[in-house]
Amino acid sequence: MAPASVRITGWGMYAPERVLTNADLEKLVDTSDEWIRSRTGIRERRVAAPHESTATLAAVAGKRAIAVAGLAPDDIDLILVATLTPDYWMPSTAALVKEAIGNRTAAAMDVMAACSGFVYAYATADSFVRSGMYRNVLVCGAELLTRFLDFSDRNTCILFGDGAGAVVVSASDEPGGGMGGLELTTDPDGAYMIWLPSGGSRSPVSGETVRRGEHFIRMEGRETYRFATKTLATSALKAIERAGWTLDQIDLVIPHQANIRIIESVAKGLGMSMDKMFVNVDRYGNTSAASVGIALAEAVDSGRIKVGDRIVFVAFGAGFTSGAVALEWTADPLNGRRAASVEPVASVRAPLDWDSVDPMPPRLMAVLESGPPVPLDDVVPGEPEHARVP
Ligand code: UT7
Repeated sequence: MAPASVRITGWGMYAPERVLTNADLEKLVDTSDEWIRSRTGIRERRVAAPHESTATLAAVAGKRAIAVAGLAPDDIDLILVATLTPDYWMPSTAALVKEAIGNRTAAAMDVMAACSGFVYAYATADSFVRSGMYRNVLVCGAELLTRFLDFSDRNTCILFGDGAGAVVVSASDEPGGGMGGLELTTDPDGAYMIWLPSGGSRSPVSGETVRRGEHFIRMEGRETYRFATKTLATSALKAIERAGWTLDQIDLVIPHQANIRIIESVAKGLGMSMDKMFVNVDRYGNTSAASVGIALAEAVDSGRIKVGDRIVFVAFGAGFTSGAVALEWTADPLNGRRAASVEPVASVRAPLDWDSVDPMPPRLMAVLESGPPVPLDDVVPGEPEHARVP
């Protein structure tokens, strides 16, 4: 039976412990902390440990979201994992997350829409619950991008980081709240603006593809930037209009955390002040499909969202995809405290007769092993701080 409404009941995030600063990257490529901060707003990003994978990152964030929702793992009917850095091509990362969170009953599948993945997966979850098919869907956005980066390419390696964010989308017997408006787009003209050439049917992995470095992410930064600044405000506006709301009714926008300049252009395009934009790109870099989920969890837990607030998720990414959701927040933010009961560990059963090669990029490892991260004197741990272009 179709529910009276569909609401977010749980949220959670996980960021690996290890920090990679701009100063660390200066040791790897011809770049500078000043260039990275002024062009992107990024100060640091996280790097997953060798024993972690996309599925384990997603599982920790997912377990936290389930705890916050006050549910047990088996209450989840469907698990969606948005990622462009899956553990394997098959099985799906969602199947591995199902085992890692201790769920025995759910269906599970991945959603591939690159950095817009969390918004696409959220929209998918909402549709399943709205139709009456499922009551609780776990949506995880998770990425382990540092294993797909060429740490000799300064155009890409300074931008991305690892992490996961998750929400539980639930049926409610109370009317009102939840998603009011949605906009999803895909523009294949941008198909090769951010892409990973080898490993698919067009170009299976071989010694030659590895020699050419085609197993790394490639990006046309300027074109991607142009697309982002064109699409984000328009997508957000369409979702807000479909909800029947006006811009002045929006309390907070949670944009994909790719670049502070892109976020500032969304604010400008919407005629909103930066106070209404949630920003944490300074501390995590671009975590692709994880970024909106991580930002949402931090926004709720830091008191930026209260019951009745109207918020917008908006993202863009490879494809080119973009998407926006306008929704009314209904959950008690204090439920976020329940996530503290979840340990920051998860494990996925290894295959019996196979072991992976060392997953860590050698150039990155050399820097990580060269000493502790350079401390930042102006960041208070645990408190999200706005990045600013100096
Ligand atoms: O989720 C979607 C993922 N992708 C994105 O969000 C990327 C969107 N694009 C961007 O954020 C920006 O285009 C970048 C941050 C990637 C680049 O910033 P930009 O202001 O567009 O710089 P640019 O590409 O126009 O390059 C300016 C200069 C170039 O040198 P020349 O040609 O002027 O001599 C680059 O070679 O900066 C150089 N450059 C760098 N210099 C120092 C490029 N990367 C670096 C670097 N450090 N890391």
